[in-house]
Amino acid sequence: MCGIVGYTGKQEAAPIMLEGLKRLEYRGYDSAGIVINRDGELSLCKAKGYVDALSEKIGGGSLMKGHTGVGHTRWATHGKPSDENAHPHVSSTGKIALVHNGIIENYQKLREMLIAKGFDFKSETDTEVAVNLIQFYYKGDILKAVSEAARRMEGSYALGIVCEDYPDLLLATRKESPLILGIGKDGNFLASDVAAILTHTRDVCYLADDEIAMITPTDIKIFNCELDEIIREPARIDWDISAAEKGGYEHFMFKEIMEQPEAVRKTLSPRLQNGRVVLDDIILEPDYVNSLKKIYIIGCGSAYHVGIVAKYNIEKLARIPVEAVLASEFRYSSPLADKNTLVICISQSGTTADTIAAMREAKRLGARVLSIVNVVGSVIAAESDDVLYTWAGPEIAVATTKAYSTQLAVTYLIALFLADLRGTITCEDYTAIVGGLSALPAKLEEILQNKENVQYLASIFFNKDNIFFIGRNIDYALTLEASLKLKEISYIHSDAYAAGELKHGTISLIEEGTLVIAMASYFRLIDKTVSNIVEVKSRGAEILTLTTVSGKAHVAHASDEIVLIPDIHEILLPSLAVVPMQLFAYYVALARGCSIDKPRNLAKSVTVE
Ligand code: F6R
Repeated sequence: MCGIVGYTGKQEAAPIMLEGLKRLEYRGYDSAGIVINRDGELSLCKAKGYVDALSEKIGGGSLMKGHTGVGHTRWATHGKPSDENAHPHVSSTGKIALVHNGIIENYQKLREMLIAKGFDFKSETDTEVAVNLIQFYYKGDILKAVSEAARRMEGSYALGIVCEDYPDLLLATRKESPLILGIGKDGNFLASDVAAILTHTRDVCYLADDEIAMITPTDIKIFNCELDEIIREPARIDWDISAAEKGGYEHFMFKEIMEQPEAVRKTLSPRLQNGRVVLDDIILEPDYVNSLKKIYIIGCGSAYHVGIVAKYNIEKLARIPVEAVLASEFRYSSPLADKNTLVICISQSGTTADTIAAMREAKRLGARVLSIVNVVGSVIAAESDDVLYTWAGPEIAVATTKAYSTQLAVTYLIALFLADLRGTITCEDYTAIVGGLSALPAKLEEILQNKENVQYLASIFFNKDNIFFIGRNIDYALTLEASLKLKEISYIHSDAYAAGELKHGTISLIEEGTLVIAMASYFRLIDKTVSNIVEVKSRGAEILTLTTVSGKAHVAHASDEIVLIPDIHEILLPSLAVVPMQLFAYYVALARGCSIDKPRNLAKSVTVE
């Protein structure tokens, strides 16, 4: 949520920041701005809207000269999207400017204190409090001022700061919101996300909570909150920049859908060796696994939907009670977690505020935390007892696709691993599922080769106002994701229901021409689902059914249109079934002319509660 990029070095800073902000735009895109420190004089430009609007105002950067600066692309929290509320914000004296990701929770109290001391405020943001607080503590030593201000601020923040008195210095500090420092050849960088600086450097240091960095063109120094210097070895990022570019595709979302076979292959293949699941990256001892009384799976949005599929599969294979819980609800629901509880946190970004809070609560209660994360070194990865990375590469489109698929793939591995240790799976089933996992990437490719079928279906149905998804068991879990994908990018109202539940109320919404998308891949329950399809069809609904090649004959008589996926072991079906639904959402949104990669009101990586 929101993006930060900063540079200090030999090159002109503004074009570098504009390029970085473009790459970060997926994190927030209601306004953007940059501040340049040119020989001790701050110049500022902000614009409501996309980064292009900012770029136009400053001639692609050519109208703002100087070698040190920070920029920001915003997703509004405090204060509506506007030029005034856009970052950077400048202190009352005009001496200090900063950009901010996160929310300063005690900003009202601090604002009142600062107003009483004579400070002026021009915006509605919590960020202006941060910059004035630093100004308040600034008595000639900017490092000390930032440290004292940081002690007073509650909530989450990542700050990129410049000060007139230090012409080539960038300062950075963070709490619960990511920041990385990039080491370049002729200058150094600051960013909230590696994608912003990957064209310039792959050598980065991660800033930890409460640390402060002083970045000059030739040096980066990191200090703890006591202002003792910390030596941090840089890490090397092995993501290729092409992974963060569209590479000829019209949208990141489509590119990322197409990347799924490879992302799933990369995630699975190192962990499947000689017909066995090998999870070298985690330490779950057999005694611990056998002592487990419960598993919680925690995530938000699509990550939570992965958790629901995993609940069905882990319970089925490993015979442990599993509860999938929304991260935003977990810590307010008196969770029954203790040392005999495993908490699996799922997060693409590893920085989702609700998931971080839930993870910390789980640890406080004594549970062990195993996380499934895409971004290496992110907060959730760093704080978990065990991490299984999804090797999806950078996901730029706001609507997740390849992260969802790789998360799902990892949950199968966990289910098999636990079932094997607990002795709850037969050799035949184990071998069949591992075989299915090995075949998964090729089957995903097969589905993607037939994408035009889905495009055709989208062209028939894109004008609907309401769409209902129904399914049973893992198909129900999948309807939740299919419905979310459709509504977030196409803005069509849609809802997901357990197929057997419709007649307990929702069926009243079905009328002539209502589109019902029935997920009927789970063969064991296909005839039950068909009964529910018939119930809505006889009340006027149009039916689009997703099923397997083997299921086709069972659903044909009750369906107007059918999407087929290949047969595969039943627990792996959601991995195949989700892809046509992602494509459907994509093509419907395309037909409706929606902003696919940056849907309205949304942002990638939700770092506020
Ligand atoms: C939906 C989507 C979101 C995320 C959710 C969690 O397409 O992308 O629902 O799944 O915000 O984000 P992470 O996985 O980064 O914790």
